[in-house]
Amino acid sequence: MRKQIVAGNWKMNNDLSQTESLINELKSKTKTSNAEVMVAPTFTNLYHAYGVLKNTNIEVIAQNMHFAENGAYTGEISASMLKSIGIETVILGHSERREYFNETDELLAKKVDAALAKGMRVIFCFGEELADRKSGNEEAVVGNQIKNALFHLDTASYQNIVLAYEPVWAIGTGETASPEQAQDMHAFIRKTLADKYGNDVADEVSILYGGSVKPANAEEIFSKPDVDGGLIGGAALKADDFFDIVNAF
Ligand code: G3H
Repeated sequence: MRKQIVAGNWKMNNDLSQTESLINELKSKTKTSNAEVMVAPTFTNLYHAYGVLKNTNIEVIAQNMHFAENGAYTGEISASMLKSIGIETVILGHSERREYFNETDELLAKKVDAALAKGMRVIFCFGEELADRKSGNEEAVVGNQIKNALFHLDTASYQNIVLAYEPVWAIGTGETASPEQAQDMHAFIRKTLADKYGNDVADEVSILYGGSVKPANAEEIFSKPDVDGGLIGGAALKADDFFDIVNAF
Protein backbone atom coordinates (compact mmCIF):
# COMPACT_ATOMS: atom_id res chain seq x y z
CA MET A 1 0.00 0.00 0.00
CA ARG A 2 1.52 3.31 -1.07
CA LYS A 3 1.99 6.02 1.53
CA GLN A 4 -0.09 9.15 1.27
CA ILE A 5 2.04 12.20 2.03
CA VAL A 6 1.35 15.90 2.37
CA ALA A 7 4.52 17.97 2.68
CA GLY A 8 4.67 21.72 3.23
CA ASN A 9 7.63 23.46 1.62
CA TRP A 10 8.02 26.79 3.39
CA LYS A 11 10.74 27.91 0.95
CA MET A 12 12.56 31.12 2.03
CA ASN A 13 9.72 32.28 4.28
CA ASN A 14 9.38 32.79 8.04
CA ASP A 15 11.98 34.02 10.51
CA LEU A 16 12.34 32.31 13.89
CA SER A 17 9.36 33.93 15.60
CA GLN A 18 7.11 33.35 12.58
CA THR A 19 8.28 29.74 12.47
CA GLU A 20 7.48 29.34 16.17
CA SER A 21 3.98 30.71 15.65
CA LEU A 22 3.31 28.43 12.69
CA ILE A 23 4.58 25.26 14.31
CA ASN A 24 2.61 25.97 17.48
CA GLU A 25 -0.52 26.38 15.39
CA LEU A 26 0.25 23.19 13.50
CA LYS A 27 0.68 21.30 16.77
CA SER A 28 -2.85 22.24 17.78
CA LYS A 29 -4.42 20.79 14.61
CA THR A 30 -6.13 17.42 14.38
CA LYS A 31 -5.23 15.03 11.60
CA THR A 32 -8.22 13.04 10.38
CA SER A 33 -6.57 11.46 7.33
CA ASN A 34 -3.93 8.75 7.08
CA ALA A 35 -1.51 11.02 5.26
CA GLU A 36 2.02 11.41 6.56
CA VAL A 37 2.60 15.10 7.26
CA MET A 38 5.91 16.91 6.75
CA VAL A 39 7.05 20.51 6.88
CA ALA A 40 10.27 21.98 5.49
CA PRO A 41 11.40 25.16 7.26
CA THR A 42 14.50 27.14 6.26
CA PHE A 43 17.87 25.84 7.48
CA THR A 44 18.12 28.43 10.25
CA ASN A 45 14.85 27.20 11.78
CA LEU A 46 15.28 23.49 11.15
CA TYR A 47 16.76 22.46 14.49
CA HIS A 48 14.27 24.46 16.48
CA ALA A 49 11.32 23.12 14.46
CA TYR A 50 12.62 19.58 14.83
CA GLY A 51 12.84 19.98 18.61
CA VAL A 52 9.30 21.30 18.92
CA LEU A 53 7.68 18.79 16.54
CA LYS A 54 9.71 15.64 17.25
CA ASN A 55 7.06 13.89 19.34
CA THR A 56 4.17 14.81 17.08
CA ASN A 57 2.90 13.29 13.84
CA ILE A 58 4.54 16.08 11.83
CA GLU A 59 7.99 15.29 10.41
CA VAL A 60 10.44 18.14 9.91
CA ILE A 61 12.35 17.83 6.65
CA ALA A 62 15.00 19.82 4.75
CA GLN A 63 14.59 21.79 1.54
CA ASN A 64 18.00 20.98 0.08
CA MET A 65 21.49 19.64 0.80
CA HIS A 66 24.91 19.35 -0.83
CA PHE A 67 26.29 16.08 -2.17
CA ALA A 68 29.66 16.28 -0.41
CA GLU A 69 30.19 14.84 3.06
CA ASN A 70 32.03 17.95 4.30
CA GLY A 71 34.80 20.32 3.23
CA ALA A 72 35.33 23.61 1.43
CA TYR A 73 31.80 24.28 0.18
CA THR A 74 30.99 27.66 1.73
CA GLY A 75 27.34 28.08 2.52
CA GLU A 76 26.40 24.44 2.06
CA ILE A 77 24.90 21.75 4.32
CA SER A 78 25.57 18.01 4.13
CA ALA A 79 23.41 14.93 4.70
CA SER A 80 25.44 14.11 7.83
CA MET A 81 24.71 17.54 9.26
CA LEU A 82 21.00 17.10 8.64
CA LYS A 83 21.07 13.62 10.17
CA SER A 84 22.95 14.95 13.21
CA ILE A 85 19.99 17.17 14.12
CA GLY A 86 17.40 14.45 13.50
CA ILE A 87 16.37 15.23 9.92
CA GLU A 88 15.60 12.07 7.91
CA THR A 89 14.04 13.44 4.72
CA VAL A 90 15.24 16.00 2.17
CA ILE A 91 13.60 17.67 -0.83
CA LEU A 92 15.89 17.58 -3.88
CA GLY A 93 15.51 18.94 -7.40
CA HIS A 94 12.89 21.58 -6.71
CA SER A 95 12.35 23.70 -9.83
CA GLU A 96 13.50 26.79 -7.94
CA ARG A 97 16.83 25.05 -7.22
CA ARG A 98 17.06 24.06 -10.88
CA GLU A 99 16.19 27.55 -12.15
CA TYR A 100 17.97 29.91 -9.72
CA PHE A 101 20.88 27.72 -8.63
CA ASN A 102 21.55 25.92 -11.88
CA GLU A 103 20.98 22.44 -10.48
CA THR A 104 21.18 19.90 -13.28
CA ASP A 105 20.01 16.30 -13.47
CA GLU A 106 23.66 15.21 -13.17
CA LEU A 107 24.22 17.24 -9.99
CA LEU A 108 20.92 16.00 -8.58
CA ALA A 109 21.92 12.39 -9.22
CA LYS A 110 24.92 13.00 -6.93
CA LYS A 111 22.75 14.62 -4.27
CA VAL A 112 20.30 11.71 -4.39
CA ASP A 113 23.17 9.26 -3.97
CA ALA A 114 24.58 11.21 -1.03
CA ALA A 115 21.22 11.35 0.75
CA LEU A 116 20.46 7.66 0.19
CA ALA A 117 23.97 6.69 1.33
CA LYS A 118 23.15 8.29 4.69
CA GLY A 119 19.85 6.43 4.88
CA MET A 120 17.77 9.53 4.21
CA ARG A 121 14.48 9.62 2.36
CA VAL A 122 14.42 11.84 -0.74
CA ILE A 123 11.46 13.76 -2.12
CA PHE A 124 12.65 14.17 -5.69
CA CYS A 125 11.01 17.00 -7.64
CA PHE A 126 10.74 17.50 -11.38
CA GLY A 127 8.30 18.94 -13.88
CA GLU A 128 7.99 20.59 -17.26
CA GLU A 129 7.91 24.29 -18.09
CA LEU A 130 4.99 25.95 -19.82
CA ALA A 131 6.74 25.92 -23.21
CA ASP A 132 7.25 22.16 -22.90
CA ARG A 133 3.55 21.61 -22.29
CA LYS A 134 2.51 23.98 -25.06
CA SER A 135 4.69 22.06 -27.50
CA GLY A 136 3.43 18.69 -26.28
CA ASN A 137 6.83 17.69 -24.88
CA GLU A 138 5.87 17.38 -21.22
CA GLU A 139 6.22 13.60 -21.04
CA ALA A 140 9.58 13.63 -22.82
CA VAL A 141 10.92 16.30 -20.44
CA VAL A 142 9.64 14.60 -17.30
CA GLY A 143 10.77 11.17 -18.48
CA ASN A 144 14.29 12.49 -19.07
CA GLN A 145 14.46 14.25 -15.70
CA ILE A 146 13.59 10.97 -13.98
CA LYS A 147 15.91 8.83 -16.08
CA ASN A 148 18.88 11.18 -15.80
CA ALA A 149 18.74 11.63 -12.04
CA LEU A 150 17.32 8.32 -10.80
CA PHE A 151 17.75 5.46 -13.24
CA HIS A 152 21.22 4.59 -11.98
CA LEU A 153 19.62 3.54 -8.67
CA ASP A 154 18.96 -0.06 -7.76
CA THR A 155 15.50 -1.38 -6.96
CA ALA A 156 15.99 -1.29 -3.18
CA SER A 157 16.76 2.43 -3.26
CA TYR A 158 13.18 3.18 -4.19
CA GLN A 159 12.08 2.35 -0.66
CA ASN A 160 13.52 5.77 0.19
CA ILE A 161 12.38 7.70 -2.86
CA VAL A 162 9.22 9.80 -3.08
CA LEU A 163 8.54 11.55 -6.38
CA ALA A 164 7.00 15.01 -6.65
CA TYR A 165 5.63 16.11 -10.02
CA GLU A 166 5.53 19.89 -10.07
CA PRO A 167 4.71 21.50 -13.41
CA VAL A 168 6.70 24.74 -13.29
CA TRP A 169 3.83 26.72 -14.81
CA ALA A 170 1.63 25.80 -11.82
CA ILE A 171 4.04 26.72 -9.02
CA GLY A 172 3.00 29.82 -7.13
CA THR A 173 0.92 31.00 -10.09
CA GLY A 174 -2.55 30.10 -8.84
CA GLU A 175 -2.89 28.01 -11.99
CA THR A 176 -3.22 24.34 -11.06
CA ALA A 177 -2.88 21.36 -13.35
CA SER A 178 -6.35 19.93 -13.73
CA PRO A 179 -6.92 16.70 -11.79
CA GLU A 180 -6.94 14.92 -15.17
CA GLN A 181 -3.64 16.49 -16.24
CA ALA A 182 -2.10 15.47 -12.90
CA GLN A 183 -3.46 11.93 -13.17
CA ASP A 184 -2.27 11.54 -16.76
CA MET A 185 1.26 12.63 -15.85
CA HIS A 186 1.37 10.54 -12.67
CA ALA A 187 0.27 7.47 -14.64
CA PHE A 188 3.03 8.20 -17.16
CA ILE A 189 5.58 8.54 -14.35
CA ARG A 190 4.48 5.23 -12.82
CA LYS A 191 4.69 3.52 -16.21
CA THR A 192 8.18 4.97 -16.72
CA LEU A 193 9.21 3.39 -13.42
CA ALA A 194 7.44 0.11 -14.22
CA ASP A 195 9.19 -0.17 -17.60
CA LYS A 196 12.58 0.13 -15.89
CA TYR A 197 12.06 -1.56 -12.51
CA GLY A 198 8.83 -3.56 -12.82
CA ASN A 199 5.37 -3.12 -11.35
CA ASP A 200 6.34 -4.09 -7.81
CA VAL A 201 8.58 -1.03 -7.51
CA ALA A 202 6.34 1.31 -9.51
CA ASP A 203 3.26 0.45 -7.47
CA GLU A 204 5.00 1.22 -4.17
CA VAL A 205 6.52 4.62 -4.98
CA SER A 206 4.44 7.56 -3.76
CA ILE A 207 4.03 10.30 -6.37
CA LEU A 208 3.04 13.72 -5.03
CA TYR A 209 1.59 16.58 -7.03
CA GLY A 210 2.76 20.16 -6.42
CA GLY A 211 1.61 23.43 -7.92
CA SER A 212 -1.02 25.76 -6.43
CA VAL A 213 -2.68 23.06 -4.33
CA LYS A 214 -5.14 24.67 -1.93
CA PRO A 215 -8.05 23.55 0.25
CA ALA A 216 -10.51 24.16 -2.59
CA ASN A 217 -8.82 21.80 -5.06
CA ALA A 218 -6.95 19.29 -2.90
CA GLU A 219 -9.72 16.73 -2.53
CA GLU A 220 -10.32 16.41 -6.26
CA ILE A 221 -6.60 16.18 -7.07
CA PHE A 222 -5.97 13.63 -4.29
CA SER A 223 -8.93 11.53 -5.47
CA LYS A 224 -7.00 10.53 -8.60
CA PRO A 225 -5.63 6.98 -8.41
CA ASP A 226 -1.98 7.79 -9.10
CA VAL A 227 -1.82 10.95 -6.98
CA ASP A 228 -0.51 9.98 -3.55
CA GLY A 229 -0.37 13.40 -1.97
CA GLY A 230 0.96 16.89 -2.41
CA LEU A 231 3.98 19.12 -2.05
CA ILE A 232 2.46 22.38 -0.91
CA GLY A 233 4.04 25.84 -1.12
CA GLY A 234 1.99 28.96 -0.42
CA ALA A 235 -0.94 27.20 1.25
CA ALA A 236 1.46 25.48 3.68
CA LEU A 237 2.23 28.83 5.30
CA LYS A 238 -1.20 28.94 6.91
CA ALA A 239 -1.89 26.21 9.45
CA ASP A 240 -5.64 26.10 8.73
CA ASP A 241 -5.19 25.80 4.98
CA PHE A 242 -2.40 23.24 5.34
CA PHE A 243 -4.43 20.98 7.60
CA ASP A 244 -7.48 21.32 5.35
CA ILE A 245 -5.23 19.93 2.61
CA VAL A 246 -3.82 17.21 4.90
CA ASN A 247 -7.36 16.16 5.74
CA ALA A 248 -8.55 16.26 2.13
CA PHE A 249 -7.74 12.54 1.72
O1 G3H B 1 7.23 23.05 -3.20
C1 G3H B 1 6.09 23.44 -3.46
C2 G3H B 1 5.71 23.83 -4.79
O2 G3H B 1 6.69 24.63 -5.38
C3 G3H B 1 4.33 24.38 -4.93
O3 G3H B 1 4.23 25.72 -4.52
O4 G3H B 1 1.88 25.53 -3.76
O5 G3H B 1 3.01 27.75 -3.86
O6 G3H B 1 2.38 26.54 -5.95
P1 G3H B 1 2.81 26.44 -4.53
